[in-house]
Amino acid sequence: MSTASTGDPADRRASRPGSQLADRDGVLRDLSRYLAAAWASFDRPRAHEPEADPELVSRLSAALPADPGDLHAALDDAVQVLEASITPSRPLFVAYVGSSGLETSVLASALAAAYDANLATAAGAADLLDRQAVRWIAQFVGFPAAEGHFTSGGQTSNLTALLAAREQALPGAREHGIAGRRAVVYCSEEAHHSIVRAVEAIGLGRRALRRVPTDNRRRMRVDALADAVARDRAEGITPIAVAATAGTTLTGAVDPLEAIADVCSEHGVWLHVDGAYGLPAAATATAGHWFAGLDRADSVTIDAHKWLGMQKSCSAILLRHPHALRAAFGHEERYMLHEEDTGNPVDSTFEYSRPFRSLRLWLSMRVYGADRFRAWIEGTLHHAARLTEAVRAHPEFELLHEPMLSTVCFRHVPPGLPADRLDAHNERLARAMQRDGRVFLAPAVVDGHTCLRVCFVNFRTTSEDVDLILPVAAELGSQPGMSG
Ligand SMILES: Cc1ncc(COP(=O)(O)O)c(C=O)c1O
Repeated sequence: MSTASTGDPADRRASRPGSQLADRDGVLRDLSRYLAAAWASFDRPRAHEPEADPELVSRLSAALPADPGDLHAALDDAVQVLEASITPSRPLFVAYVGSSGLETSVLASALAAAYDANLATAAGAADLLDRQAVRWIAQFVGFPAAEGHFTSGGQTSNLTALLAAREQALPGAREHGIAGRRAVVYCSEEAHHSIVRAVEAIGLGRRALRRVPTDNRRRMRVDALADAVARDRAEGITPIAVAATAGTTLTGAVDPLEAIADVCSEHGVWLHVDGAYGLPAAATATAGHWFAGLDRADSVTIDAHKWLGMQKSCSAILLRHPHALRAAFGHEERYMLHEEDTGNPVDSTFEYSRPFRSLRLWLSMRVYGADRFRAWIEGTLHHAARLTEAVRAHPEFELLHEPMLSTVCFRHVPPGLPADRLDAHNERLARAMQRDGRVFLAPAVVDGHTCLRVCFVNFRTTSEDVDLILPVAAELGSQPGMSG
């Protein structure tokens, strides 16, 4: 059969959208130049936060082009947009819980995107690698996982866990819903909103979430949890799960997992640990002790796109026992048949189409090894301890909690500023620091006080960078107009 073009436009590959690029080598050369420049610029904090060029801004309001455009020009615009955007990969991006944008993970992302394996169904060797990555991440944090999956984020991992727990506590809930049965989930007052959202999504309504009070280190109070579970059981209410947090978003508190696991085993309640942010610290000598009891959890969330440095999004949900996910998600459709009795991966995941996220973790762990990751995480814990000491020693700053992991909340207390103006001052200061760009941190509220919140998860941050934080805050905080 002839392979020559028939003249039919549909037959001319180069005219199809998504077809091959005319100058692959040239474009790849451009791309590697862009990547090299970006990576080099992530080696040091920026001197300021650049604004987007006005001409670029006006191009960003142009209508949908009907005709082909120049690829090099489009790529150039894309890079300009990214250069004028906030990037957690920069070493003094310490707002929220960012990542490091590991270079190995970028390479894996490019390869995964190019091949675009879909892990909803059997994907060949990718399935073997995916399972190995699940075993590796579980082994890294010391969780005896029987199964697990990479998901789109901590929100999805937490939801996946609660759907599995719901089906176990209320068998048939998939079929009948809650059907008038009274059921609850427990978490601490400091748990992440994704737990609230998951409780809404599993059909309980957010009033079914018991917010357990915390102790003086902001950890779930186990006596209050035990009382609440006993009271609910006595009233015929079904406890679906306790969602403990291993590294709260606001201050990095780790709930007492061993004691919570005791309550859960006594009452036969599913223990989920939301370690989206904090769990990687379980692998360290400095902070590992906080996570005692983790191995007794039924399910665990860990975000590799936070403290393990991967690009978003790359989370994992790990289960101690097999079958619970299949009970929650198993199905057979005419377009998704089972081969004999073997389910498809999508029989145990909440998501359908899933990209090959685990390749990022796998490639990075292969290249760097677990010890290097452990050392990087230790380094960020030391940064938090270093900043904590500096805040304590500085007469113009006040520490607002005793850090357990890598998050430090503190506030600027300029001499002579009345107490009732400190909140507005610190909010203005945080915004001024974001505009300035040398140190990108976020404001937060701890015990009713507006503060500056710093979270160290970036492996690019050095001790020298840490030492810039207070001088920049003090400099901007003393500028005219800052105190209102
Ligand atoms: C403790 C905790 N759980 C869950 C989440 C939600 O994770 P994601 O943004 O990956 O969905 C976060 C996000 O910061 C978090 O800190």
